[in-house]
Amino acid sequence: MKKILTTLTIFLLAGCGSHIDRGAANGASKLAATSTEQLALIPYPESVTRLPGTLVLHNVVHVEAADGTATSTLALKNLLKTLDITRDTSASTQIQLYLVDEPALGSEGYRLDIDQQIILSANTDTGLFYAVQTLSQLLPSQVQAHYELPNTSIIDSPTFSWRGNMLDVARSFLSVEYIKAHIDRMARFKLNRLHLHLSDDQGWRIEITDYPKLTQIGGASAVDGGRSGFYTQAEIRDLVKYAQDRHVTLVPEIDLPGHTQAAIASYNELACDDVTNLAPYSGLEVGFSKLCLTDPDTTYTFVTDVLTDIVKLFPSQYIHIGGDEIKDPLYPEFIARATRIVADLGRTAIAWEEGSVADNDPDVLLQLWNDKYDIQPALDRGHQLILSPCSYSYFDHGNYQGQPNTYDWCRKEGVPLERAYQLNPQAYTQILGVESAMWSELIHTDHTADNRLWPRVTATAELGWSRAENRDYQEFLTRLNALRPMLDAMGIQYYREPALNW
Ligand code: ACM
Repeated sequence: MKKILTTLTIFLLAGCGSHIDRGAANGASKLAATSTEQLALIPYPESVTRLPGTLVLHNVVHVEAADGTATSTLALKNLLKTLDITRDTSASTQIQLYLVDEPALGSEGYRLDIDQQIILSANTDTGLFYAVQTLSQLLPSQVQAHYELPNTSIIDSPTFSWRGNMLDVARSFLSVEYIKAHIDRMARFKLNRLHLHLSDDQGWRIEITDYPKLTQIGGASAVDGGRSGFYTQAEIRDLVKYAQDRHVTLVPEIDLPGHTQAAIASYNELACDDVTNLAPYSGLEVGFSKLCLTDPDTTYTFVTDVLTDIVKLFPSQYIHIGGDEIKDPLYPEFIARATRIVADLGRTAIAWEEGSVADNDPDVLLQLWNDKYDIQPALDRGHQLILSPCSYSYFDHGNYQGQPNTYDWCRKEGVPLERAYQLNPQAYTQILGVESAMWSELIHTDHTADNRLWPRVTATAELGWSRAENRDYQEFLTRLNALRPMLDAMGIQYYREPALNW
């Protein structure tokens, strides 16, 4: 850590922007004040330099924002509003949002300089949005008479472009309101991919234009004790926009060709003629249903129609076609065809790891979910991965061993916070990023969803964003503890993790 801070200070002294140059004039005192004490930030930034003194922020500031910074400016205004800080052009303290041209910051990086003023700089509105998120973590969550911020220079950018979380809304539905709250919470931790598992045996959750029974029948079922429902296309458009404004990409998954009982119950012709089980399903088994792969006309017409609607609704470059837990001699051919259908629609397919057996274009992304799956042959063919190894990333597993209503098939000790934090993405090659997954067979309420997601999702955020050398579990716990009031203010009903004394 010390080495990093020293390197950063030298970089600052070299000067790379007007306000940095101003700071360089008293560089010696900055060096003296450099502290290894961590700010309470998750994910921890690439580099932090503490400067002497603090900035006292009274309840009125002057905000100056460049053109093209709509989402970050709005996020800043909302932050100020929650803290009862008003804006006035005559205020002595300024918060400035600058668009700059600094290739090293990339498309998501930013600088945050707190000294006499607060200066946010980035190449993009996205980077500025993340600077605002950092600022929001430095400020308290409750209104105060005034606010004190440590004088600091932060230079930050993510390690991985894919920093994801998956919600299974198929086994048990989650409302539009919950998804929106989750997007807000993700954004606060700089997570940027929300993967929605929209279909499975127990339910079909998205309106498809030419197949109304998918939602009339498939939308009405759920796992035993779970919630049914579906999103209309208007609701999906609203969610997509809501997520875009928070720099989160919604990644849709239609699980094919297995995990399809809800589709088969809605349109029986999707199953082969010898299949007798055509009823909606509410149990816990997997691997029993499939589209009829020996009837390509019916199957590929359906798949093409559904995916055509999906790409109309979701701007995501990546569209997930599932592909897990099915045995069929025609499975590899199905995956290859389905990934090409996605490509013909101008997008790129993602498949769960099993899809690696198919003859796919190397740009097809694979999502690793079994720790020990042999993905090397796919890597050799040039595929890239999303990392979701179940023993670290499956948040349907217990926060502790034996937690009621959790699974333990992947790891009998569950996936405690420390385990979630221990995933080392740097041990893998060809990865786009990380994603934790919350399957919902045993998660039927918002309260339980919160309990399974939080605080573990903060570990996903740090794995996806922070440099390996900046990750330390004990320091992470200290920072997380300090952010507890922020989780409370966001209404998160988190698991009271003993390691945090919560
Ligand atoms: C999976 O857990 N079947 C992707």
